[in-house]
Amino acid sequence: MMEWTDRHCRYFLRGFSPRVLLYTEMITAAAILRGDRERLLGFDPEEHPVALQLGGNDPDELAAAARIGAEYGYDEINLNCGCPSDRVADGSFGACLMAQPQRVAECVAAMRAAVDVPVTVKLRIGIVDGRQGNVREAIARFDESDYAALHEFVETLHGAGCEVFIVHARKAVLGGFSPKDNREVPPLRYEVVRRLRADFPQLTIVVNGGFRQADAVIEALEWCDGVMLGREAYHRPMVLAEIARVLYPEDVASMLSREEMIDRMVRYAAHRMACGDRLAAITRHMLGLCAGEPGAREYRRILSEGARVADAGPDLIRQAFAACGGRAMRGVESAPPCAGT
Ligand SMILES: Cc1cc2nc3c(=O)[nH]c(=O)nc-3n(C[C@H](O)[C@H](O)[C@H](O)COP(=O)(O)O)c2cc1C
Repeated sequence: MMEWTDRHCRYFLRGFSPRVLLYTEMITAAAILRGDRERLLGFDPEEHPVALQLGGNDPDELAAAARIGAEYGYDEINLNCGCPSDRVADGSFGACLMAQPQRVAECVAAMRAAVDVPVTVKLRIGIVDGRQGNVREAIARFDESDYAALHEFVETLHGAGCEVFIVHARKAVLGGFSPKDNREVPPLRYEVVRRLRADFPQLTIVVNGGFRQADAVIEALEWCDGVMLGREAYHRPMVLAEIARVLYPEDVASMLSREEMIDRMVRYAAHRMACGDRLAAITRHMLGLCAGEPGAREYRRILSEGARVADAGPDLIRQAFAACGGRAMRGVESAPPCAGT
C-alpha cells in the first residue's frame, strides 16, 4: 500500500506472522529503471516472503523492472491492475488496464519471460467510468456483462501465464472518486470472486477487501485460496498473529510476544538509524501495536510526538510501550553495523 508498506512497515509486520506474504507499495517500472534503486527496492532478509508490486503498462519496461526486482531477491512480482487513483489512470496503468486485457497479457508474458519467480496480478472485479452515465447505478450493479468482462480479463491473462490473481472484490471508479471512496463506496461482492474461483479451479484466487477479523479470514479460506488484508493489517497488525495461530499452530511456540516484538524493533531501529534512516520513518508504522489495549492512546502519543524530537533514539519505542503496560525500559544494545541492506 502506497506510503504504508515500505520496508520498515514490512519488517514490523513480519514480527507478527512468520509466513504471511508481504507486499511492497506499488512502484512504477519507470521509477525502478530510472530512480534510486536501492532506496526503492532495498529490503531486509527477514521480510521474506515478500512480493514486489509494479505499476506500468509497457511490456519492455515492466519486464526490465521485474528482472531487477527478482535480482534483488523478491519472491513474487505483482502487476497492479487495481489502483483507481486519477494520477494512476492518467498514466494508463492501475485499474484502467482492466479495459485492455490484451495489453496486460503482453505485459504479463514479458514479465514471465524475464523472471523465474511467479508473476501475479492484482485487480478489481470491474471498472466504471466515473465521468459518464449514472455512476451510482453502475457501481450498484454487477450483471452478466460485468462478469463476462472480468472472466475475459482473467482468461486472457491466464493464457499469458498468470496463475495467481488477487481480486479486490469491488468495482473501481475511474475518475471523479477519491482513492478513499474507491475503497469504501462500491459494494463488496465476494460472491463474484467465489464464482471466479469456481470457473477457474486451476488458478490461485486470492480475495481482498473488507476483512477485519481473523474468523472471517479463516472462513473465506474455505472457498478461496488466500486472503489479502490491507487496512486492518496496518491499523491492527495483531490480526496477522491471530490468523497465523489458527493456520499454523506448529508456529505458535516460536511466535513473538509483544515484548519480544518491541525488542526486535528497538534493535532494528538502531540498525536502520546507523544506515541513515530517521526514527520517525520506522515508528510511524508501529502505532497499531497496542490497538484495542489499555494505554494504546498514550503509546501512540509518546511514539508519534517523541519520534519528532531531534535526538530521539530507539529507546523511545520502549518508553512508549511501557505506557501501554509493557515491560520497564532497558538500555538499547549497540546497533549492528549497516550492511547496506
Ligand atoms: C493508503 C493505501 C494505499 C494503497 N496502496 C495500494 C497499492 O499501492 N497497491 C495496491 O494494489 N493496493 C493499494 N491499496 C489498496 C489495498 O491493497 C486494498 O486493496 C484495499 O485497501 C482493500 O483491502 P482492505 O479492505 O483489506 O484494506 C491501498 C490502500 C490504502 C488504504
